[in-house]
Amino acid sequence: MNLVVLGAQWGDEGKGKIIDFMSSVADVVVRYQGGNNAGHTVVLGDKKYVLHLIPSGILHEGRSCVIGNGVVIDPGYLLEEMAYLAKNGIGLDGNLHISENAHVIMPYHKLLDRLAEEKSSKKGKIGTTSRGIGPCYTDKAARLGVKMADLLDKATLTEKVKASLEVKNYLITKYYGAKGFEAGQVVKEYLAYGAKLKKYIGNTYVLLQRAAAKNKKILFEGAQGTMLDVDFGTYPYVTSSNPTAGGACTGAGFSPSLIDKVIGVTKAYTTRVGEGPFTTEMPVELNEDFRGRGNEFGATTGRPRRCGWLDMVVLKHAHAVNGFHSLAVTKLDVLSGLNELMVCEAYRYRGKKLYDFPANIGVLRECTPVYRAVKGWKENICDVKTYVKLPGNTKRYIDMITGMSGVPVSMFSVGPDRDQTVITDKGLWK
Ligand code: GDP
Ligand code: IMO
Ligand code: MG
Repeated sequence: MNLVVLGAQWGDEGKGKIIDFMSSVADVVVRYQGGNNAGHTVVLGDKKYVLHLIPSGILHEGRSCVIGNGVVIDPGYLLEEMAYLAKNGIGLDGNLHISENAHVIMPYHKLLDRLAEEKSSKKGKIGTTSRGIGPCYTDKAARLGVKMADLLDKATLTEKVKASLEVKNYLITKYYGAKGFEAGQVVKEYLAYGAKLKKYIGNTYVLLQRAAAKNKKILFEGAQGTMLDVDFGTYPYVTSSNPTAGGACTGAGFSPSLIDKVIGVTKAYTTRVGEGPFTTEMPVELNEDFRGRGNEFGATTGRPRRCGWLDMVVLKHAHAVNGFHSLAVTKLDVLSGLNELMVCEAYRYRGKKLYDFPANIGVLRECTPVYRAVKGWKENICDVKTYVKLPGNTKRYIDMITGMSGVPVSMFSVGPDRDQTVITDKGLWK
């Protein structure tokens, strides 16, 4: 049984929490794209873990965790995350497997990410996480990238870094007026990372095939979300990879014929970090109210998240792209105490109603939301353990999501803790 769990909105939907919850049953958990731009939070009692690169299944003892070929890895950062887990008594030896084909975030990628953002006009800024993600994927596509396997081979690494720096140093010094890199030093630093990571690096797609052949349960953990997808998101205000369902196959080397289900994670409202159009964004005061009640601050950069109402145009677009079998709806508790909730059922563009998400960013910028007002609920629902025990209006809200999207809700979440998750579909793993 192999399940893909991915974000249906602009990231931070609670994927880490859902993956951790589902990992109690899974055998293998795989990250297939993105890098340490992701920040996945798992809360266990009074302990909070934020994972950026290592799959969120790692908190369950003995779980195999794979960082697939589609992920971009900052090895210095990865070693820090490994040390953080080790300090918390979480063992990695024998459990962590890193694809030899995954591309490496080099120091010049991080610098170029920052310099490009700094030099951009307000309109041109993406609001990236400055982790070097875009420049690393750019090099991968330009066939100038460094793979994890290269960190174990001095001759290849030296050749690649020298070739890459010839152009990069010109750009960094002449165009941006910043200080360039010395190839020898970069190679030395990255060979040292390779030596430390060697025992974890290997062929992960064969490992996954073997697990699938033995009928193991494999979970694919998306990072970011559908609206940040480089093909289907709000381009250019997106990340540089494919968080959408197909990305799990290319980013892990796993056949689509072996994927059984795709689960979309959505907040009961919407948030986004960084720049770009956001049709259901709330006015300033309400935005701040939600930021407070939902603790909406980025898990990676600490930036305040922009908050908005639930957007069904987005959710239906995400369903069209990913073919969700079911949805996990998170942060329902955050809506408690509101008299009325807005749900966006269409966009208005120059007097016309749009039901499909527009591909043209100029059109999207002009869209305004067409809202349906629904009744809220007063009750605190943090301790609710079954769908039946939810207040009537909360049930109606969940049912409305299913009705409007055409996707059943298999899980909902009423607080950050692992225990505050409710499965409504007993056949989830079947
Ligand atoms: P991810 O990137 O999709 O894994 O999500 P993040 O971890 O970046 O952001 C989700 C935030 O919401 C984290 O702080 C979680 O602890 C928190 N969270 C997840 N589910 C719930 C929920 O049902 N209720 C509340 N109140 N918080 C939640
Ligand atoms: P998780 O996995 C929310 C956003 C950045 C920026 C855009 C491009 O925690 O949901 P990048 O550094 O990727 O080039 O930035 O994407 N972004 C995220 N927003 N959650 C994330 O990850 C994100 N990862 C990137 O804010 O708008
Ligand atoms: Mg996050």
